[in-house]
Amino acid sequence: MINPEQLAASAVRKLTPYQPGKPITELERELGISNIVKLASNENPLGPSPKALEAIQSGLGALHLYPDGGGFDLKAALAGKLGIEPGQITLGNGSSEVLELAVRTFVEPGQKVIFSEYCFAIYPILAQANGAKGVAVSAHDGTKGPHYGHDVKAMAEKVDSQTRLVFIANPNNPTGTYLKKQELLWFLQGVPEDVIVVVDEAYCEYVSVPDYPNALEWLVDFPNLIVTRTFSKVYGLAGLRAGYAVSSPEIADLMNRVRPPFNVNSLAMAAAAAALSDREHIERSVRLNNEGMQILCDAFSVRGLPFIPSVGNFITFDVGRNALPVYQALLLQGVIVRPIANYGLPDHLRVTVGTDIENRLFLEALDRVLGL
Ligand SMILES: Cc1ncc(COP(=O)(O)O)c(C=O)c1O
Repeated sequence: MINPEQLAASAVRKLTPYQPGKPITELERELGISNIVKLASNENPLGPSPKALEAIQSGLGALHLYPDGGGFDLKAALAGKLGIEPGQITLGNGSSEVLELAVRTFVEPGQKVIFSEYCFAIYPILAQANGAKGVAVSAHDGTKGPHYGHDVKAMAEKVDSQTRLVFIANPNNPTGTYLKKQELLWFLQGVPEDVIVVVDEAYCEYVSVPDYPNALEWLVDFPNLIVTRTFSKVYGLAGLRAGYAVSSPEIADLMNRVRPPFNVNSLAMAAAAAALSDREHIERSVRLNNEGMQILCDAFSVRGLPFIPSVGNFITFDVGRNALPVYQALLLQGVIVRPIANYGLPDHLRVTVGTDIENRLFLEALDRVLGL
C-alpha cells in the first residue's frame, strides 16, 4: 500500500496547518452551551453593511451562473474609491489568496521569503508550501527589551541575492504594531528592484495615527510593490472571502495568470462593491473599535496586565504565565479568544475588540479565570 505521506512534496510533509480561531459552532458542540462570545479572528462585531446584505439578496437569483471571472464591477468600484486603474487589481478569495498568488507568481523553490518574527502565521506557511526558504527576522533589537514590531533595519540586512519576496504586515497581526511612513519608505528605497515587497494592509481602515503610511501612494515609485487589502475586517465580510492586491498593471497581469478562474464568488463581489460605498458603516465600525480599544486598554492597565499597544481591531496582552490554560478556562466561560503560542508568544492572548457587551463579558470572564 502506498503511503500518501511519501508521495507528498517534501515541503508539504513538513507543513503544520494554519490554526484559525475556534468557530462558535465547534464550541457549542463541545460544551453544549450557547450565547458564545467570539473575539478570536478580528472580525467586525457589527457585521456587514446593510448595503452589502441587500446586494447579496439581489444576487441570489443568478446563483446558477458563473461569476464574472474578471471581476469588472468590483474592480471598477475599487478603482473609483482608491484612485487606481482596474488593471492594477488582482482579486482573491480573501486576501490570503492574493498573498499566496504573490508567492506562487514570483518565488521559485529554494529562494528566500523574508518576514518578521511574530508575523501573520500565513507567511511562513506560504513560503514553505511553495518550497521557498522562509526567513524570520528577529523583532528584538537585543538591547532595549521586548520589541514586537518589524525591525526594518534587520530585515533589510537579511535581503540577499537569494531573496525574492518580503512580507510586511502594516499593521501587524498579532501584535497590532505598525511601521511609520518614514520607516517603510526607507525600507522600500533600499530594497533591490528584483525583490517583491508585499505590504499587507488588512487592518488599514482602523488606523488613525498620523504617521501611518498609505502604501498605495508609493506604487508609482516602486514597481516591485504589492499592497494587499481585505473585505474580511472592517467591511465585515469574512465569511464571503474577498480580498485584493493592488500593484503595477504588469504585476497584476502576472498574478492574474496564476489566479484560479472564478476564485471570488458572485455574492462576495456584489457585497464587497456595495460595502465600499457605505462610508457611514465604516465610520461607525471604526468609532466602535476606538471606544472598545480604550476600554480594553484601561481594563488591562487596571488589572496590571501588560499589553502591546495596537492600532488594529485586536489587542495582545500578557497573562504573566502560560496562556493556554487561561484560554481554555475562558472557553468554559463561553468566550473565545486567540492563544498565540504558535506565533512565539506563549504567555500572551489576542482578543478582538467587540461590541460593548462583548467586551464586558470578556472582561468579566477574564476576572473569574484569573481570580481578580
Ligand atoms: C495581517 C493579515 N493579513 C491577511 C489576513 C487574511 O484575511 P482574509 O484572507 O480573510 O482576507 C489576515 C487575517 O486575519 C491578517 O491578519
